[in-house]
Amino acid sequence: MTAKIIDGKTFAARIRGAVACHVSRMKAEHGVTPGLAVVLVGDDPASEVYVRAKHRQTVEAGMNSFEHRLPEEIAAADLLALVDRLNADDAVDGILVQLPLPGHIAEAEVLAAIDPAKDVDGFHIENVGLLATGQKAMVPCTPLGCLMMLQAEHGDLSGLEAVVIGRSNIVGKPMAQLLLAANATVTIAHSQTRHLKAVVSRADIVVAAVGRPEMIKGDWIKPGASVIDVGINRIDAPERGPGKTRLTGDVDFAAASTVAGAITPVPGGVGPMTIACLLANTLTAACRRRG
Ligand code: GUN
Repeated sequence: MTAKIIDGKTFAARIRGAVACHVSRMKAEHGVTPGLAVVLVGDDPASEVYVRAKHRQTVEAGMNSFEHRLPEEIAAADLLALVDRLNADDAVDGILVQLPLPGHIAEAEVLAAIDPAKDVDGFHIENVGLLATGQKAMVPCTPLGCLMMLQAEHGDLSGLEAVVIGRSNIVGKPMAQLLLAANATVTIAHSQTRHLKAVVSRADIVVAAVGRPEMIKGDWIKPGASVIDVGINRIDAPERGPGKTRLTGDVDFAAASTVAGAITPVPGGVGPMTIACLLANTLTAACRRRG
């Protein structure tokens, strides 16, 4: 079997198009322009790349983008004061504080300070609780994008066996909650899971979010399963020349794509969906806040 390659780039472009369309209607009919504030502390190069991409795509969708860049050594109290100002700013519908934060700042305290109604990351404990209890929540962007791709592939997920590998607050746990809410039978596997191959091989849906390059092998995958690879790992690629590197996922793509029914590539799979879902969440927050 050769798997269908799930094209996250095209899927994400469709979502961004739909968001842009809705935003332009909001502007024309209600004179409202949704706004997203992104806060970046320090100059981590990977975070810089993400924040630039978020800014560009927010503007392209017709929304206002407010960027706040703070020095690495900023005091936690000053960051919290900025979050308070953004909470109170009516032009700001969504607030995203880019993670990771420097070690001297308690992430949980900062996330808890964000107004849950503006928490477009879905990381605030109130949104975590709402999602876990099946209520209307802001949903973390990466798992939301994964769910959309799975629903596009399968339609109804009821009764399907889903295995999520990874238990992070950002991806693994909310992914499991979303799959559960969609009536899948869900297992969360992680670094301490015994017989991981056996656990993965019974899954109709595999979501890999462990951050270990090509850890999930092709012969672990049930024939015809859908495989969503959240991992983005940079590894050495001597075959491309001395000192060269390449990106790869948590799944051995070459082997898994001969067994799976559908699979996301890395890059070009889950990655583009995350920012598209951030824009969708910002629009959702704007609609809910502004009635
Ligand atoms: N850092 C890596 N991914 C994310 C994300 O989805 N949201 C935030 N706030 N920071 C991140």
